[in-house]
Amino acid sequence: MVSQVRGVQLARLLGQWHALPGRRRSPDYAALAGAVRGLLADGRLPLGVRLPAERDLAEALRISRTTVTAAYRELRDSGHLASRRGAGSWTMLPGTHRVAPNGLWIPLDDRDMLDLGVAALAAPPELLPAARAAAEDLPRYLNGAGYHPIGIIELREAVAQRYTERGLPTSPDQIMVTNGTQHALDLVLRLALAPGGGVLVESPSYPNALAALAARRARITTHGLAADADGWDADLLLGTLRQVRPRVGYLIPDFQNPTGHLMPAELRERLVATAHAVGTDLVIDESFVDLPLDGTDLPPPTASFDRHSRVVSIGGMSKPFWGGLRIGWIRSSAPQVQRLAAARVGVDMSSPVLDQLVAVHLLDVAPAIVAARRAQLAVQRDALLGALAARLPEWRVTMPRGGVTLWAELDGPISSALARAAEEVGVRLAPGPRFGLDGTLERFLRLPFTLPVADLVEAVGRIAAVRYDLDRAGQPRWREPSVIA
Ligand SMILES: Cc1ncc(COP(=O)(O)O)c(C=O)c1O
Repeated sequence: MVSQVRGVQLARLLGQWHALPGRRRSPDYAALAGAVRGLLADGRLPLGVRLPAERDLAEALRISRTTVTAAYRELRDSGHLASRRGAGSWTMLPGTHRVAPNGLWIPLDDRDMLDLGVAALAAPPELLPAARAAAEDLPRYLNGAGYHPIGIIELREAVAQRYTERGLPTSPDQIMVTNGTQHALDLVLRLALAPGGGVLVESPSYPNALAALAARRARITTHGLAADADGWDADLLLGTLRQVRPRVGYLIPDFQNPTGHLMPAELRERLVATAHAVGTDLVIDESFVDLPLDGTDLPPPTASFDRHSRVVSIGGMSKPFWGGLRIGWIRSSAPQVQRLAAARVGVDMSSPVLDQLVAVHLLDVAPAIVAARRAQLAVQRDALLGALAARLPEWRVTMPRGGVTLWAELDGPISSALARAAEEVGVRLAPGPRFGLDGTLERFLRLPFTLPVADLVEAVGRIAAVRYDLDRAGQPRWREPSVIA
């Protein structure tokens, strides 16, 4: 790895830095600093390398040393350079970022950042009492080894009872406790999908589910959801299943992430029947099933139409309760749960007993917690919609009847550019393409309404400001894409 760049080398990398597009009338030192930042962002100048001495770079660029001094000062101020007297200056990234092993910038915990990248609520007040009660319960388990590959019986009973109450009779031996819904998906895929197997997913879909599928090297077919309230196109969805006959279908019928759509009962029934007819196993992600808003009635669970053990349901505590609990579950047939347990020992053996006990205590008081969550989410959703209507009226949004996100259709294919610009003003966004597979969805942005109202309104104000700046920065006005032949 290079540890130092010389003046002539950096000058070569910088190329026509003084004439970069978008420079407008900024002073030389600012243009030079901007060009160095650009090289860092593109990965052409590595992190942690020593930049040339000021005089060396000034000579190589044929500019005054004061310009280089001022540029280095600006880079230090913006967090792209660390200097120590007598030792030189090293490239780095601003304090809110570090570089992940895959070369991507990842954020550190930054308390000033308004994070609209994560669609999850802070913990409810009931969490601490539940944790205390769980600690009191723990002695009951301490005489055993603590390994429960399908979960402790009390939690499996509580989860099974919730399914039964939703009209889907379930016994505890049909439940396997996991470390979150994501873990549940990974385990199910390990069993159901050989590497390279075919999978049908919605587009857009949940990015970490797509990552789990990528890890199985799945061959993915997508069903495009309409942005408006209809969501799924029944004929297309079922037609694709019949044509492609994927091994697995991964769908989120209950307040889909990111669109918030709710699949009607009739389509659920046809979906399960068609899946059975073509030999597709359905993995139904019910992460948001507890969060209908405005008194919206829930259709029957997708698995309630299943007569042939085609449907595996996954869900968890993260959305209605707290993501930090890391408790999720799988509902399947009892023999399938045993197979999953056998697969699990090669991964993580078992979930933490204490966390499962916390979950039991939270589920005990679930109705009160969930009612408060729904009321809070409805208020926050309405505040977000109101702020968007006031500040970004060109964006089109369909009011979600549940879940925690809305899927905004923007006024152009600007989602990634907007996310980059928003990060600069302290708002983190997950741009549309993160929810797809092929770099499309640039006209869309997922906006969660999990932050307090004041933060949501502030975030929309900042997003609106950078949206306006994107236009003023002299970018071409967005048009419908023309045909490229
Ligand atoms: C659709 C969907 N599935 C799974 C997960 C992961 O949930 P967990 O925190 O339970 O692993 C999420 C979290 O955002 C989600 O939205």
